Amino acid sequence: MRLLLATLAPLLGLFLWRSKYTLYYNMLTRMDLPDGYYSEGEVSSHCRSMNSASDQSFKYCEDASFWENYDADGKLEERRVVVSCDSGRREWNTVMGPLLNPLPRGSLWIHSPKSGQTTRLTLENFPEEHTFHPLGVEVYPSYSGNASYMYVVNHAANKTVIEQFLISPLSSSAKHIRTLSHPFFIASNAIALTSPTSFYVTNDHIFTKRLPYVGAVLPMVETILGLPLSFTAHVTINPDEKAKNVVLSHTIVAPFVAYSNGISISPSGLEVAIASTSIGTIYFYSRNATTNALTFSTSVQLPFPPDNVKYDHDGNLVTGGHPHFPSLLQLLARKVDVAPSWVVSISPIEGVVAPEYDAKATLSASTIIPPPTNHTVQTLFQSNGKTFSTSTSGLLDTLSGNLYITGLYAEDGAMICHP
Ligand SMILES: *[C@@H]1O[C@H](CO)[C@@H](O)[C@H](O)[C@H]1NC(C)=O
Ligand SMILES: *[C@@H]1O[C@H](CO)[C@@H](O)[C@H](O)[C@H]1NC(C)=O
Ligand SMILES: *[C@@H]1O[C@H](CO)[C@@H](O)[C@H](O)[C@H]1NC(C)=O
Ligand SMILES: *[C@@H]1O[C@H](CO)[C@@H](O)[C@H](O)[C@H]1NC(C)=O
Repeated sequence: MRLLLATLAPLLGLFLWRSKYTLYYNMLTRMDLPDGYYSEGEVSSHCRSMNSASDQSFKYCEDASFWENYDADGKLEERRVVVSCDSGRREWNTVMGPLLNPLPRGSLWIHSPKSGQTTRLTLENFPEEHTFHPLGVEVYPSYSGNASYMYVVNHAANKTVIEQFLISPLSSSAKHIRTLSHPFFIASNAIALTSPTSFYVTNDHIFTKRLPYVGAVLPMVETILGLPLSFTAHVTINPDEKAKNVVLSHTIVAPFVAYSNGISISPSGLEVAIASTSIGTIYFYSRNATTNALTFSTSVQLPFPPDNVKYDHDGNLVTGGHPHFPSLLQLLARKVDVAPSWVVSISPIEGVVAPEYDAKATLSASTIIPPPTNHTVQTLFQSNGKTFSTSTSGLLDTLSGNLYITGLYAEDGAMICHP
């Protein structure tokens, strides 16, 4: 026992030391965030709900991804956005609980910046008995109007799976192709495509709420202590839609990360970013584009636990997250209605940034986190929850200028801010 303690105590100390900013600023204290701040103008006149048709089911949106639509000459026509929402999340959340009712289905939406409309995708050929709780979503680009494969993590009733769909720019339905299963899709969270039929997928926990008895405690221990148990895998599937052996390979490419959450591939294809939520850090890896192997390069500490990450077209990484974890738990317990939001952009620079970086923001990241090396952090949006609650993703479209923000428990689902 003494030996065990002697081994565990320094390890635990190390884990807690790595989480020191997160523990202090995002758990033990509450920072003073404004009602709403947007980097390009007044929130009231520049930001609006993405729910253009005031649809009741467009709420509690976890992820969003770009769907690039290229014309016949290879010119980018439009960067549409696919959004995953689950209005039943208060009854079924395999990451944070509860696990009460898996039956009401979540939904997928497409937003077109040209029309300004957000349309619900109807699921075609989706097996009737399947439950549907979408989380991470990614779509392969469409070229001269061809259809695209879309992959959606589904925290279904029985187990976590990945659904493969086909969507077309001219239709508002998503045709179900097949369900991908693997013993290591334990707690799949986010997806980043490497081809029409291969992708990285993060796995956010080893211990999940689904476990009998220990499920109530172990996932929370894994989160709070920042235990580096989760991983990212690269998965290749059979291009033949009818094939019996669906998953051809599953390779763990980034093991031993605490709470691997969002993942994104840089526009050059040579860098991958993974959010380590519980220690408030983004890990950057260099990517071998032939083998999809990842090599750790550097990390950037953030003033909040990051959730999803997406590169913009210029190579800046945009991420949203949860500045006050206790509020999120209180929200789940229905003791409060909202929890705060913060979205930043992380850009590569040479050397160490000036101490007063992020000066424009109401609450500057520089008052919380020491100046990062080789990167700078700039606030795009922040709110104590009044303007927008529980941010998970931020997407910056350099073509339209739109910033999209999704909210895990946001009643209005997702928001668009425009300069
Ligand atoms: C879920 O599991 C139950 C019991 O094992 C089984 O009857 C049912 O078919 C499963 N549902 C799906 C969608 O796999
Ligand atoms: C659409 O075209 C692209 C480029 O030729 C191709 O990579 C992709 O596989 C096509 N999509 C489908 C679903 O066949
Ligand atoms: C990618 O991996 C392959 C196989 O290990 C190796 O031959 C190649 O040099 C690597 N590419 C880069 C850019 O490191
Ligand atoms: C910053 O970049 C320089 C030059 O590329 C490199 O030598 C140094 O190791 C980097 N520092 C960190 C902390 O990544």
